[in-house]
Amino acid sequence: MVKSLLLCLFTACGLSATGLSHNNDAVPVTHTVYNKLAGVRRVSKRNVIDCHDNTKYLFNASFGVICCESCPPGYVAATIGCTKEDNKTRCKKCTQGEDYMDHYNYNTKCLRCSGCDGPHGMEVEENCTINQNTKCKCVTDHFCDSAPCRHCTPCDTCANGRVLEPCKETKNTQCEETGQTRQHTVIYVIIFIVLGILVVSFLVWKKLNNKQKTYVSADVNPGNERNQLIYPDIDLSPHLAAIAEEMNLDDVRRFVRKLRVSPSRIDAVRNDNQNNATEEKIKLLELWYQENGITGAYGTLITTLRKLHLRSTADRIEQTIQAVLIQS
Ligand SMILES: *[C@@H]1O[C@H](CO)[C@@H](O)[C@H](O)[C@H]1NC(C)=O
Ligand SMILES: *[C@@H]1O[C@H](CO)[C@@H](O)[C@H](O)[C@H]1NC(C)=O
Ligand SMILES: *[C@@H]1O[C@H](CO)[C@@H](O)[C@H](O)[C@H]1NC(C)=O
Repeated sequence: MVKSLLLCLFTACGLSATGLSHNNDAVPVTHTVYNKLAGVRRVSKRNVIDCHDNTKYLFNASFGVICCESCPPGYVAATIGCTKEDNKTRCKKCTQGEDYMDHYNYNTKCLRCSGCDGPHGMEVEENCTINQNTKCKCVTDHFCDSAPCRHCTPCDTCANGRVLEPCKETKNTQCEETGQTRQHTVIYVIIFIVLGILVVSFLVWKKLNNKQKTYVSADVNPGNERNQLIYPDIDLSPHLAAIAEEMNLDDVRRFVRKLRVSPSRIDAVRNDNQNNATEEKIKLLELWYQENGITGAYGTLITTLRKLHLRSTADRIEQTIQAVLIQS
């Protein structure tokens, strides 16, 4: 029973193998036979036909099914089959540069060499040989990211010139994306702004520092401090008459002019007090005192008199005021 099953299978297999042997690519058939055989071999270990690698094939000869040796790469079968005595297939060579065969086979025709698709950016990498088809590659500045490669695509050139990765055989040029460019621009702008802020702050700081120095120097001016100590801000109005008494009219006029009391007001006081020098002196001092206010008035009075070379007058006034201060 096993025997008949085997025969049936072999016959069927032989049939399909011979039937398809004119097909250019007979190898898959061989594989089919091999697979079926493997199944059979599992059924019976008594099977004597060992024909299960791709360098051999089953042949349905008149006397039964036998195993023949395939033709090697570069060759195809001149006639399919073999005899019991000689298990080799008669093979013929493919034509160099025209056709080829790249595997063990019992085809009757070689495969035609293919060309490389020039219009699609391809060129010959290796010429066709009897056992290997033409190998193609992309022309320069082209790439191919599909396998098998059917056509090549020109490589991108980066618009703003920033190439991250140059074009490769299977990968297009990697350009810096516009997003990245924008990011860079943003970073540059931020750096610029920060630098600007730093410069401005430095300038402002320098200016403030200078001003502070001026303030400090004004503050440490020993004269002013001493003035503050020696000449406190006392109300001079009760003493203006006494002060006027110590000065002559010309000195009072020089004094108020020196302290920038407006000339028109000085003239007005003079007109109002044509024949009363005492009154005019008091009025002029009052005028100055109103404009100056109480702050620093005493100090200004004494120092200005000294500047006007009225030292003895200054001394006398000082003594008078000090006396009043001690009393109170
Ligand atoms: C295969 O061999 C059998 C007998 O051995 C024969 O009857 C059959 O016709 C053969 N088939 C082919 C396609 O040669
Ligand atoms: C062909 O015959 C040789 C010896 O003559 C043997 O070594 C070889 O295995 C055979 N090949 C096949 C496919 O049967
Ligand atoms: C292929 O062969 C031609 C001549 O047949 C030759 O000019 C060419 O350089 C060869 N190409 C390669 C890549 O070997």
